[in-house]
Amino acid sequence: MAIYASFRSIGAYAPEKILSNSDLEKMVDTTDEWIVKRTGIKERRIADEHISTSDMGAMAANIAIERSGLGKEDIDLVICATVTPDYFNMPSTACIISDKIGISNVQAFDISAACSGFVYSLTIAKAFIESGMKKNVLVIGAEKFSSIVDYTDRSTCVLFGDGAGAAVISATTDKSEAFMDIHASADGSYADFLVTPAPGSVHPANQKMLDEKLNFVQMKGNETFKLAVKTLTKDVIDILETNSIDASEIKHFIPHQANYRIIKAVGDALGMREDQVVLTVQKYGNTSAASIPMAINDIYESGRLKEGELMLLDTFGGGLTWASALIPFAGKVK
Ligand SMILES: CC(C)(COP(=O)(O)OP(=O)(O)OC[C@H]1O[C@@H](n2cnc3c(N)ncnc32)[C@H](O)[C@@H]1OP(=O)(O)O)[C@@H](O)C(=O)NCCC(=O)NCCS
Repeated sequence: MAIYASFRSIGAYAPEKILSNSDLEKMVDTTDEWIVKRTGIKERRIADEHISTSDMGAMAANIAIERSGLGKEDIDLVICATVTPDYFNMPSTACIISDKIGISNVQAFDISAACSGFVYSLTIAKAFIESGMKKNVLVIGAEKFSSIVDYTDRSTCVLFGDGAGAAVISATTDKSEAFMDIHASADGSYADFLVTPAPGSVHPANQKMLDEKLNFVQMKGNETFKLAVKTLTKDVIDILETNSIDASEIKHFIPHQANYRIIKAVGDALGMREDQVVLTVQKYGNTSAASIPMAINDIYESGRLKEGELMLLDTFGGGLTWASALIPFAGKVK
């Protein structure tokens, strides 16, 4: 009997501390009006100093496991997508999360695909499950993005926030619960569009790194914007066409939450109705790999996401990387 991957549960964690646009007005030369008009972001969450990426990931993971109805002993693979790991570069954040939530002796690793990390991880979970190697995969997207943001750089500091989301992906023989399709791709020729130059083998940690602020995210904002709209739109058209699905059949279009103008341009190009498009960017900003699972959790907790409803995920990020997925929600609703 064929085995499929199914999206069994979702959980998320957002830090309590809010960094509002008016807070940012006091830190850099910007205005609430500029930020809202250009990005749609009103506020973002920032983790306290003593909270790490793995702490947030663990909190989201515990919720996802509890909602899955499974025990921790049932999880046989832990994947964490992050570009703000607890440590550069070992141990992996997935190992630390596994320990914090009480899962031991299972395979655990991180993947690095920036904002596309969560959907990239879903491709890995699907492959492990469909090959029969694993049964219940915990997939986490967690970021303490504030740890790589320069809060004197107005072009980036208004955009990003912290948070985590997690999902349990399980084996099923019921085709109606199965991932319908998932695509992931990359083009390294645009690597300099979004980059954290140090520390790494190109620029090891040293005084120059600190003097030139190479440890903070750098972005070609305008170029990234244009490419994001083009790529996100094309990616959705491709996956819908491949699966003979009309955009009107999508219950929840869940794009990466980077900028309201990007989401609006993509939604309009695809003819999506407002009620189909999930929006959290106004309250969380761009939380990178955590963005999509936090958005799924948002509609789950507000009662909008029901068992069997079709989700269309669409993401784009540093690398450059991009990915899209057609997945029915196979979780039980509380
Ligand atoms: C960053 C972004 C909001 C900037 O919007 P934009 O319309 O492209 O604006 P530009 O970068 O062309 O800058 C326009 C002006 O606003 C200024 N500006 C930039 N940030 C500002 C801020 N926070 N407040 C006020 N002015 C700002 C620029 O300095 C520039 O001024 P100038 O014309 O005097 O040089 C937009 O490019 C964006 O969202 N890009 C994609 C980012 C993204 O999604 N990244 C993650 C991908 S996963």
